[in-house]
Amino acid sequence: MALPNQVSPPQIALSSAAPTGVAGADVVAVPLVKDEDGPTLGPGAAELLDELSLDVFALLEHHQATGRTGEVVEHPVLSVDGLSNSSLRSVLFVGVGAGTPADLRKAGASLARRVKGKDTVATSLAALSDDAGLRALVEGLVLGSFGFHRRSEGLKERPVSRVVLAGIADATERQQVLERGIALAGAGWMARTLALVPANEKSPAWMAERAGEVASTAGLKVKVWDEKQLARDGFGGIVGVGRASSNPPRLIRLDYTPRGAGRGTAHVVLVGKGITFDTGGLSIKPAEAMMNMKRDMTGGGVVLAVMGALADLDCPVRVTGLVPAAENAVGGDSLRPGDVIRHYGGRTSEVRNTDAEGRLVMADALAYAVAELKPDVLVDVATLTGAMKVALGQRTGGIFATDDALADLIVTAGAAAGEVLWRMPLVEDYEERLESKVADADNAAGGPGAITAALFLKHFTAGLPWAHLDIASVGDSPVDSFEWTSGATGFGARALLHWLELREPLAGITS
Ligand code: BES
Ligand code: MN
Ligand code: ZN
Repeated sequence: MALPNQVSPPQIALSSAAPTGVAGADVVAVPLVKDEDGPTLGPGAAELLDELSLDVFALLEHHQATGRTGEVVEHPVLSVDGLSNSSLRSVLFVGVGAGTPADLRKAGASLARRVKGKDTVATSLAALSDDAGLRALVEGLVLGSFGFHRRSEGLKERPVSRVVLAGIADATERQQVLERGIALAGAGWMARTLALVPANEKSPAWMAERAGEVASTAGLKVKVWDEKQLARDGFGGIVGVGRASSNPPRLIRLDYTPRGAGRGTAHVVLVGKGITFDTGGLSIKPAEAMMNMKRDMTGGGVVLAVMGALADLDCPVRVTGLVPAAENAVGGDSLRPGDVIRHYGGRTSEVRNTDAEGRLVMADALAYAVAELKPDVLVDVATLTGAMKVALGQRTGGIFATDDALADLIVTAGAAAGEVLWRMPLVEDYEERLESKVADADNAAGGPGAITAALFLKHFTAGLPWAHLDIASVGDSPVDSFEWTSGATGFGARALLHWLELREPLAGITS
């Protein structure tokens, strides 16, 4: 089955031709660089001006164009007499700022939005860029095209069907760069899609089915625990959180092994929170706060998307993805405040707030990873706390880490990917707030909420190098902003892939 999204990203191809030489293009887009003394035309523009009798400087002045990143100035082509390309309808001048990869990602996204509904765009936006720039442009083009709907009449504006990146001199050699960009952006697309699927379609079993598809397309091993197997194996957190729902919980495991892996190949375990709907349980959420809780499996969706792209990006380490999936429902069998649950491996938690469910399911998966998988590094990603959103707003994700090199690697990867992460402290002094009168820890230790949640999880990581991404701040974008589309962001997929595709993703980590 294809992804549950009737909207597909544009097809993207490389060509060494000038953009005006791309047959069938209805739009040609050329870059406008921002210089000190105003905008400068980038590659591809000269050929265009030769063909069109256009006073481009008057046009740019009329629009007060500056070349700032993402600016789009349109020149409609009213007569194609004498043009080599008779399908051409419009010429776009797209601001690329200083032309950095971040600029190109934004420019690509602006262009993609402007050409929705069109057939073919030929653009020289990547003509002079290096590999990082080319990839960033592809990310912008794909993610700026993102759409998702369940309308009976389809999307109002479908993404452009085809983009030809023209003026690429060594098009054949750079095909691989394009393909990696498409894989990376595709992971972001998939993570967004999974998060947007309504919870009436999206049970833990449904997540497991999606994992099965990922495994078969990407050549991964997959294993799924059902509710009985979870109880048998002692996953008390996942069973407890999921037990009131008529959609029973699952634990999903995917395994990636790189080509040529041997005994010495390092092993990374990724854990993603897979709460397919979070009502809060008996500690129920107010209606407003429950509104976007179908997206509480964003971390799990990110892990599935990342696992699916590792082979395409030639990740050099072994990676296991774990997704503890459950629906935090209200029912006669709900966890009660004051209940004590026993996690995988035996540590206990007093459930003082059933809405602090994410850490309960994540704890089981982390403990399983430590006990059974012998990882060198553990990384988890979760829409864990509203407090993270209060602390960082909606454009920056939080990262906690027990190892400086690991934190630096992921923060740097996030910056390169356009997913900004800010390192938060694991303040030891707050540890005492986790104390419970009856169990090893209280699941709702109070403020500072993102930090105490991280400290709760740290107990399940056995001192291994561990990073925890709290993406409750960034799981949702309130607006369209370049490559971010309003709604689910799929935040984390690109950051993690930029990290895991490094030739040495574990460089400097002390194990
Ligand atoms: N899923 C929520 C966190 C969340 C909030 C995600 C807003 C996205 C946007 C999580 O399960 C939760 O409810 N956390 C509680 C914890 C509290 C009860 C200790 C919170 O943050 O309020
Ligand atoms: Mn909750
Ligand atoms: Zn939650």
